[in-house]
Amino acid sequence: MSQQQTTAKRDGFSSGFGVLAATLGSAVGLGNIWKFPYLTGANGGASFLLVYLLATLLVALPVMIAEIALGRKAKANPISALLALAPARQPWWLIGAAGMVASFLILSFYSEVVAWVFAYILKAISGSVLSSDRAVTEAAFGSLISDPVQSLVWQWVVLATMGGILMLGVTKGIEALTKKLMPLLFLLLVLLCAVSLSLDKAREGLAFLFHPDFSKLTAATVLTALGLAFFKLSIGMGTMMTYGSYFRDDQDIPATAFRVMSADLCVSLLAGIAIFPAVFTFGFEPAAGPALVFITIPAVFSQIPMGQALMVVFFVLTAIAATGATLSLMEVPVLILQERFGLSRRKATASTLGLLALTGSTCALTNSALSGFTLFGLNMFDLFDFVSSNLILPAGGIFIALFVGWVWGFDQLRRALSNEGRLNNGKLAGVVFFLLRYVSPLLILLVMLKGLNLF
Ligand code: PHE
Repeated sequence: MSQQQTTAKRDGFSSGFGVLAATLGSAVGLGNIWKFPYLTGANGGASFLLVYLLATLLVALPVMIAEIALGRKAKANPISALLALAPARQPWWLIGAAGMVASFLILSFYSEVVAWVFAYILKAISGSVLSSDRAVTEAAFGSLISDPVQSLVWQWVVLATMGGILMLGVTKGIEALTKKLMPLLFLLLVLLCAVSLSLDKAREGLAFLFHPDFSKLTAATVLTALGLAFFKLSIGMGTMMTYGSYFRDDQDIPATAFRVMSADLCVSLLAGIAIFPAVFTFGFEPAAGPALVFITIPAVFSQIPMGQALMVVFFVLTAIAATGATLSLMEVPVLILQERFGLSRRKATASTLGLLALTGSTCALTNSALSGFTLFGLNMFDLFDFVSSNLILPAGGIFIALFVGWVWGFDQLRRALSNEGRLNNGKLAGVVFFLLRYVSPLLILLVMLKGLNLF
């Protein structure tokens, strides 16, 4: 199929608000509610947060803008986009191919965390997890993740749900869902923060989150913070390029990216403020790892009237936020299979799901059947996370920045960011270009080399 034919039939976001909501829907997800608090807790709190902020502003935001601009210009999946925009025979399309691999790796563990969220909706309804007793909430989580049948079946439920939504198509499926429910999640998080801040040891929790202790910072934690910044904004692997390809030509790209980044940061911070005061008050371990949110959140809800009903709502909304992110992750391989391999949307979705059921099961069984199985000292769940967030996404970021900074060039970037001269943002384009050409690639490279102990 020629490029012309494929672009003519492409789906797209129908309105400016739809674009913002869907992009936000990709960015906001378990990264905010699950990953951000657990990594911040495990890596020393405020110092990690500070590095994460710097990484977001100096590196992730410019790369996000670049990705969306490339996607919108080419109006195609990441592989076709880079083939179309790069000079002949230069292999920049490999960024898209690596993105497809990253998408499978991330989805393999991400779908399992979504599975825990789904399972927690039922646990919340039954009331069995609502407690501030550490023994109770830890046992509830432990029994879920160490049960191979529950872990697998819930993951299949998640995959089937996502597949169903994806087959409905971009505009209908993603836009409708995210538009309506994001504000509700935000409100509920604000309520949780208020409750958490009224707890005995709220001060300690806040100090942990906002008073940096730089002795906790190592090269490896800096790489983790950078990887989180990429993961959070769904960049470095073609997701934002794919979403950019659905952007309308009159959409203000830098403004949209900035809004998404800010809102995403707010949600992460709210999750942190909701969790750490409770962690200290109820004697949880800040470094509890992936379990942190699942053991702490029920304790916060146990402190409020109607806590049980609100906890049900919380996990439902979290599941919906996670759905927006999961769909955007799946969109990368699905669109590549559709546009490059000529599969129908249905077949592309079904093949992606089939492969995911296989790769994902290794993560679902990490705490049961495969608990003794490690590679490079990491279990499959942690390995997939490490390889995607700390290797592929940052490396993708280097190459996207280099591509725009040295190949695509300033003129193209300026035209893309100003909507062909209709927006007056030449200075901003200059700053973004400078960051992409010099700062982002070098910074990412240094952090990766140091963080991986390569020099
Ligand atoms: N940004 C999403 C989240 O925070 C995860 C994600 C990563 C989505 C990469 C798409 C691509 O949950």
